[in-house]
Amino acid sequence: MERPVKSIHGEWTSRWAFILAATGSAVGLGNIWKFPYITGENGGGAFVIVYLACIAIIGIPLMMSEILIGRRGRQNPINTLATIAKEENRSPHWRWLGAMGVLTGFLILSYYSVIAGQAMAYVPRAFAGVFEGVTADGAISIHKAIVSDPERLLAWHTLFMLMTMAVVVRGVQKGLEKSVRIIMPLLFIILLMLVAYGFNTGAPFHQSVDFLFATDFSKLTHTGVLTAMGHAFFTLSLGMGAIMVYGSYLPQKTSILKVSVTIALMDTTVALLAGLAIFPLVFANGLEPGAGPSLIFETLPIAFGHMAGGQWFGGFFFMLLVFAAWSSGISLVEPIVVWLVEIRDITRLRATVYAGSIIWLLGLLTIFSFNIGMTWTLFGMTMFELLDYLTANIMLPLGGLLIAIFAGWTMKRSSTVDELGMGDGWLYSVWRTLARYITPFAIVIIFANLIGVLN
Ligand code: PFF
Repeated sequence: MERPVKSIHGEWTSRWAFILAATGSAVGLGNIWKFPYITGENGGGAFVIVYLACIAIIGIPLMMSEILIGRRGRQNPINTLATIAKEENRSPHWRWLGAMGVLTGFLILSYYSVIAGQAMAYVPRAFAGVFEGVTADGAISIHKAIVSDPERLLAWHTLFMLMTMAVVVRGVQKGLEKSVRIIMPLLFIILLMLVAYGFNTGAPFHQSVDFLFATDFSKLTHTGVLTAMGHAFFTLSLGMGAIMVYGSYLPQKTSILKVSVTIALMDTTVALLAGLAIFPLVFANGLEPGAGPSLIFETLPIAFGHMAGGQWFGGFFFMLLVFAAWSSGISLVEPIVVWLVEIRDITRLRATVYAGSIIWLLGLLTIFSFNIGMTWTLFGMTMFELLDYLTANIMLPLGGLLIAIFAGWTMKRSSTVDELGMGDGWLYSVWRTLARYITPFAIVIIFANLIGVLN
């Protein structure tokens, strides 16, 4: 198997195009919907510190590893890993790591799309002024009315899948490169305005800052630590080959270190801003920070319902949230589509239809878990909770562990020096030490802690 010099699917037009596309993948529901609610569920500050540490120590080196593997293999994750393994005289079984990534993409998008659908349902409501003057109870019942109706959820889920497929069919460069350039700055501005609103709610702003940053480790459980690590993978889109595939379109000259740090910083900033926008509303309205997945759908409408121009503000906010989810959704399908195109030799259109239909169908599990299937549980979790736990807390960290081992141990030093293109100095040594020892060690310890091996 020869290693292609360019991906058959194309190349980003510039380093910034890649940064924006990868940031588009990273910034999504994970930052604005998931980060605040899991922080709330896990007691705040200590959880945030573990999450930030995981981004720095595990996330950045792993992002570099994924990009370097992707750019070296320039194919779908399965073939990329098989080709590089062959080149390095290693086992062809590494392809299974790619296969797990493709499977993870199916599972994540199946529930991601349903949540993005809920955000979409909020767009017309916000613009129509439904949230005007809304109380906490009112906001809760508006959200309940949406999630308790499977048909409504299905309609929005279908629309989100169709939107995602429509872009993937065209190839990522055309649609995506352009859209993220507009979406990301706008999202940033609206978030800042929401933070300013939170600051002025009258609720002690420092209560939210304390909640987010005061470290009380007694509140953090073993599962909380695992969730923090899992979220670091989820939010940076790591551990399943999405960034690997985006890396396969990266021009040869681009510095992998610089782009990785930039993406991680932008992603983290958005998550923290989302926290600073949401928690003041939670505390000012006597809501429960541990409310779970419904948190932002039940807090933000209160802010929009009481601020001047909130109707427009809210409408645009949910619209941008949908766009952010959209650019992430695209990156979840891309590895699957690229894989189907390459192994089945079918058109991009056909591959997108196959992948999209299966994901759409799988989405029913999540839809039902909010209403008629609320009681269908396994290991004490609803189908949605199970999919989320399995993918974010198990499959992504496991995939990340193996990717770090692949880049740090399976690939020769000379190959990684060559691909990273930052010489063989101390900076390279830092990356290599992190990839070889620290990242795998941290992931294994957190897993071991969870199953009680260390107690
Ligand atoms: N990073 C996305 C978010 O935070 O919403 C979710 C995601 C996208 C996870 C792509 C994994 C992935 F491959």
